[in-house]
Amino acid sequence: MNTNERTHAGTLRVQDAGREVVLAGWVQKRRDFGELIFVDLRDRSGICQVVVDLEQTEAAVVAAAQEVRSEFVVRVHGKVVERAAETKNPKMPTGEIEVVASSVEILAKSDTPPFAIEDDSNAAEELRLKYRYLDLRRGSLTKNFLLRDKVSWKVRDYLHRTGFLEIETPILTKSTPEGARDFLVPSRVHNGEFYALPQSPQLFKQLLMVAGMERYYQIARCFRDEDLRSDRQLEFTQIDVEASFIDEEFIYALIEGLFAEVFPLAGIPAPTPFPRMTWQESMDRYGIDRPDTRFGMEIRDLSGAIEGLDFAPFKSALAEGGMVRGIVAPNGANFSRKRIDELTEYAKVFGATGLVWIKFDAETGSSIKKFLTPSSIESLQKALGAGQGSIAFVVAGKPNVVCDALANLRLRLGREENLIPAESWNFLWVVDFPLLEWDEDGKRWAARHHPFTSPKLADVGKLESDPGTVNARAYDVVLNGLELGGGSIRINDTNLQSRMFSTLGIGEEEARSRFGFLLDAFRFGAPPHGGIALGLDRMVMLMSRSQSIRDVIAFPKTARAQCLMTEAPSHVDDAQLRELGIALRKKPE
Ligand code: AMO
Repeated sequence: MNTNERTHAGTLRVQDAGREVVLAGWVQKRRDFGELIFVDLRDRSGICQVVVDLEQTEAAVVAAAQEVRSEFVVRVHGKVVERAAETKNPKMPTGEIEVVASSVEILAKSDTPPFAIEDDSNAAEELRLKYRYLDLRRGSLTKNFLLRDKVSWKVRDYLHRTGFLEIETPILTKSTPEGARDFLVPSRVHNGEFYALPQSPQLFKQLLMVAGMERYYQIARCFRDEDLRSDRQLEFTQIDVEASFIDEEFIYALIEGLFAEVFPLAGIPAPTPFPRMTWQESMDRYGIDRPDTRFGMEIRDLSGAIEGLDFAPFKSALAEGGMVRGIVAPNGANFSRKRIDELTEYAKVFGATGLVWIKFDAETGSSIKKFLTPSSIESLQKALGAGQGSIAFVVAGKPNVVCDALANLRLRLGREENLIPAESWNFLWVVDFPLLEWDEDGKRWAARHHPFTSPKLADVGKLESDPGTVNARAYDVVLNGLELGGGSIRINDTNLQSRMFSTLGIGEEEARSRFGFLLDAFRFGAPPHGGIALGLDRMVMLMSRSQSIRDVIAFPKTARAQCLMTEAPSHVDDAQLRELGIALRKKPE
C-alpha cells in the first residue's frame, strides 16, 4: 500500500468491518494485557482502538507495540473488525470496532508530555498555552478548528456567490480610526517614522468602493492594542464586507442570508429576518447596546413610582438629570445578606454609589425600610412588575452608571439564577445608534463608530445645532448578548464629511494629515456605499460553545498580552534598534 494512503481513525464504523486500513497518528494510550496489547490511536478525526494479538503477530510488530508510549507517532496496518458485544464502548464513536494490527511502525518517539492530552484536561491554562501544539491535539480543541475551517469556507462560498470579490489590504499601513490604540512598526528606511497595523481595513475598503470594485470582502486580520477579555484578542479576524449602491436593508439581508447558512453548520438555527431593536429601546430595557434577550428581568424606570418616597439619593439623582431604575430577581426574597452585599460590591464596580434592595415578601426587608410606606411599596412593586417572593435592586445616578450597573447585575443574576435557557440563540439587529457621544474628558463630541459613518438623512440638519440627537445609519448584529458585528452606511458627500469633521472638532489640517488620501479619493466620484465587519473568532466561539475566544484561535495571547509559547513580546538586539534609529527610554510613571 502507498504510504500516503490512510484512513482517518475517528471515522471508522461497524460498516467498515472487514476493511484493510492504514492508520497514522499519535498514541493516546497503550494498555498491555500480556497476550493482547491495546493502543488507542488518535488523529485529527478522533480515536480508534488498535489491538495487537501476541500469538497471531510477528515478533517485530509485537516489539514495536510494546515499545510505544503516549504521544509516539505510529503507522498501523490492519483490518477493521467488529468488537464482541461485551467489549463494545458506546461512549466512543468508534466503540463498536477495533483494528487488528498486522504491522506497527514507530515514526517518531515522544518525551512524556507535560500534561495528559485528554478532552477534559485539568492542566493549568498557562501550561497548556506554553505547549499549545500539544493542547491543540486534544479532541475538544481540535474540533473547534475543524469547525472554524468550515465556517471560513462557507463564508467565502456565500460571498463569492453573491458577487463579492476577495481583496487583500495592507498590514503595514497608517493608523485607522477605530478608537483603540495602534500597534506601531518602526520604519528602517524612514527613521523616526512608523507604520501602524490596521485596526480594521476600514479606509481601504472604502477606497476599493471608489475604485469601482462594487462588492469587496476579506477575512482580515485586525490589530488593536486594548485590554484583553474572554471575547477579545490583540489580533483577531474579521469577515470584512463593503458594497456600493446599497442601503441598510441590503446589509441586513446579506448578513441574515450568511448566518442562515453558517450557523446551521453547528446545529444552530438562524431563522430570518432577525428582530430589530433601536439603540434607545435596548438601553431602556437592558441597559446595554448588545442585549441578551434570552431571558427577561428587564430594567424598569422608577421615576414616577418614587414620587411619594422621601429618600434623598433618589430625589437628587432625578434633580441632576439622572435616573432611578431597577430590576427584579423573581425568587430573590430568600437572598442572604452576604449575597446582597456581594451584589452591591459588584454594582459598585460599574460606578454605582450604592444598591438599594427591597424584598417583596411578608416582611418587606429593605435597605431603605425606614423610608418605605405601604403606598410607596405598592407603587414600586407595580412599576417594577415584581411578584411576591422577589427582590428588586434599584440604582440611582447618572444615566450611564445606572444602565451599566443594572445591565451587568442583570447578566450576573441571569447566570447565577439559571434564567438563561441552554441552546437558545437570539439573533438581533440593534439599529438607530446615536452618531456621536460626549467625551467628558476631552469636552467634545466623538464619533461613536468612526467619522465616516453617515448620519440619518432626516437628522443631517441637526448636526451643528443639536449633535447629541443625531442618529447614525449604523447597525450592530448581536447574538445572545455578544456583539458579533457592526457597520454603517458611509458618508460619500465631501461637504457632509467636512461638517462631520468640524462637529468632531477635527480641524482641516488634522483631517488632511490623518485621512487626506481618503478625502482626495472622495473628490473623484465616491459611490454611495456601506458595509459591516463580523468578528469571525466570536462567531466560532459561540458556534463551538466555547467559553473563551482563546479556544478558537490556534495561538492566542494571554490576558497579559503574551504568547507563552514563543515568549512574545521579547527584547530585541541593540543592533536592530540602532538600525531603526530607536533608543529605549523609561516609560514615565
Ligand atoms: P468594529 O470595531 O465594531 O467595526 O469591529 C467589528 C467586529 O469585530 C469584532 N472585534 C473583535 N473581536 C475580537 N477581539 C477584538 N479585540 C475585537 N474587536 C472587534 C467584534 C466586532 O463586532 N471597520 C468597522 C466595521 C465597519 O464599519 O464596516 C469595525 O471594525 O465582533
